[in-house]
Amino acid sequence: MTDTIYGTYAPILQHVMADLAAHIKSYNAALKERTGEGAYEHFIYRIKTNDSMKEKCSRKGLPQTAQSALWDIHDAIGLRIVCCFLQDIYTNIDQIKAIPGCRVIEEKDYIKHVKPNGYRSYHMIIELEVPYEDVKGNTPGHYFAEIQLRTIAMDSWASLEHQMKYKHDIKNPELIVRELKRCADELASCDVSMQTIRNLIHADH
Ligand code: GTP
Ligand code: MG
Repeated sequence: MTDTIYGTYAPILQHVMADLAAHIKSYNAALKERTGEGAYEHFIYRIKTNDSMKEKCSRKGLPQTAQSALWDIHDAIGLRIVCCFLQDIYTNIDQIKAIPGCRVIEEKDYIKHVKPNGYRSYHMIIELEVPYEDVKGNTPGHYFAEIQLRTIAMDSWASLEHQMKYKHDIKNPELIVRELKRCADELASCDVSMQTIRNLIHADH
């Protein structure tokens, strides 16, 4: 398929994403082998669809080209790593930073700096040097990816909140917003308790 905004780079983009996913699986396996516990509960990944990439280009005032999609916009590749415990998020961040050819170009810590609606997550934009050609015609090439890291609790909240965003016929939006924020804060407090429980279990070993 070359009839998308990614043009002839579409198959390479798939490769870059698959390689990154393989790296993440491999450090997880190594960690499990060494400590008996993995770094995350699960992770998902996707290439931004043609339609939403085109929409994003327009929203950002960029032409709908492969150059915009792969150079000016940094989330054509998106990964979400969902962790059991808060501390696992930081374990993954360290492991990602250690991936060969990976450079972090942006970090947004919505765990420390919670969004006003209650959204929590740690976002990273990484730049990867890969043995493939990039949209500038260079080999090795450079590609970008957005990685979102969250706990299961943060992830469940974000899914529900995302669904609500598209319900425009809600009668009492202020109440809903307030209650969602309250749930986010309660879940965050559970995350801290769960981490404390894990630390207690580990201290007994
Ligand atoms: P872009 O220019 O579109 O990249 O926006 P941004 O860089 O300001 O976005 P940010 O990095 O803050 O968030 C990007 C992604 O995080 C979104 O596509 C969502 O997946 C997720 N996200 C951010 N804020 C929220 C939120 O309030 N609720 C939910 N459910 N998801 C969010
Ligand atoms: Mg972004």
